[in-house]
Amino acid sequence: MAKELWQIDQEHIWHPYTQHAIADKPLLVKRAKDEFIIIENENGQEVKLIDGISSWWVNIHGHCNEYINSKIKEQLDKHEQVVFAGFTHEPAIRLIEKLLPLLPKRDLHSEKPRRLSKAFFSDNGSTAVEVAIKMAIQYWQNNGQAKRHRIIAFKDSYHGDTIGTMSIGGTPTFHQAFKKLMFPVNFVDSPSPKLVNPNQKLNLIERQMVKEEARELAEQKALEQITILMNHFPGEIAAIVIEPLVQAASGMKFHRPVFLQKLRRLADQAGIFIIADEVFTGFGRTGSDFACQQAAIVPDIIALSKGITGGYMPMGLTVCTEEIYSAFHSKSASKTFFHGHSYTGNSLSCAAALASLELYIKEDRLKDVNYINMVMQKELPELIQLDCVKDVRIMGAIGVIEFNTDTGYLSELGPKLTQAFLERQILLRPLGNVLYFMPPYTISIDSLNYCLQTIKELAQELAEESYNVVKQ
Ligand SMILES: Cc1ncc(COP(=O)(O)O)c(C=O)c1O
Repeated sequence: MAKELWQIDQEHIWHPYTQHAIADKPLLVKRAKDEFIIIENENGQEVKLIDGISSWWVNIHGHCNEYINSKIKEQLDKHEQVVFAGFTHEPAIRLIEKLLPLLPKRDLHSEKPRRLSKAFFSDNGSTAVEVAIKMAIQYWQNNGQAKRHRIIAFKDSYHGDTIGTMSIGGTPTFHQAFKKLMFPVNFVDSPSPKLVNPNQKLNLIERQMVKEEARELAEQKALEQITILMNHFPGEIAAIVIEPLVQAASGMKFHRPVFLQKLRRLADQAGIFIIADEVFTGFGRTGSDFACQQAAIVPDIIALSKGITGGYMPMGLTVCTEEIYSAFHSKSASKTFFHGHSYTGNSLSCAAALASLELYIKEDRLKDVNYINMVMQKELPELIQLDCVKDVRIMGAIGVIEFNTDTGYLSELGPKLTQAFLERQILLRPLGNVLYFMPPYTISIDSLNYCLQTIKELAQELAEESYNVVKQ
């Protein structure tokens, strides 16, 4: 049976982010429960893998959660998908009612009160961001300021794979081939510094200081570049789009909350919007419900996806302020937001998201995130002493070890590590030389300890192999 399935897959299915000419056969999933994905191997045996990447960063309560399952099944007997233009339904309404109070609302860095209060449904993270961009651009048009069409984005950012989100993404490895199709965007440097190899002669505190200095410099430079753009294009910038606190896909690069605070002030001075892409950071991943809350800022538009349904069903959600919405609310049909997808407001996705949110609040998932953080803080920082390790960083339920190779995403180290972890029954997919661990928040203590010990063992093995092939 498995052989036949593989054969059909190999002949007809094109998997995402996969170079089939060199990739191994995909793993055949049989079931998934809690932090485990159960696959069938070539010999027909079941093998349990720990999902160390929350299935591409979506899963927060573990797989096949009984409560979420039951709520989806309950919804399935009522309605599955109904057109969302001209119709509405209780799962969507209850979801928004429950979600809005959780969104960032305390802003200590802006004079202007903002309330994220109007939610627009779509299908995934890319569409959530794309909708945000379109809202910002059309807001200015509807207000008679069509000249405001420029978007400021950051190098090393990733917002999705549609043409629109590729345009505002700063990761050429993924999107270079489509450059000619992309719209022009004003890029500034990443607020996360490019790390150099640690000077082994410095002690750990000194190294930390060097890192902090580099971080401050990078943030300052990005802010200066934004100021220059604002002065250079007065009245032309519509919005700044940012992945707050973590630039995820480009290598889990962190910046500090203070950067977001300065960005909020700068955007206010120029009267332009901040779009927070919290597709990755939302729903607890960085240690707060949303990353913006750590900086006590409120964005003008927030894009959500991934964890919103607990990792169960596709959904994108873009929430904007009343002010933005008001520019569309008009007797003039030409001011309508002409955007929609066939599956907008899918009833099953809404039921899953509502159930997930209920669990998230009731079971205090942030406590689970804090526990994972505490264990990682205890176990991982010592790895910085290995010659092959350039940096160790931890935020919320994200643990990152950056190795000393200079080939970035295409580093041969990535597949090598993935294989080594699979042999030890852990699913990890490093971004090239950046190994990250981010399990579902409900991972058991035993699995958590096993993963961290295995990461430490493998890093040690790399150090012994002298895997500091630094080609700098
Ligand atoms: C910050 C961020 N924005 C947007 C996206 C795109 O989401 P999707 O893959 O659901 O289109 C991702 C995906 O990884 C992401 O990390």
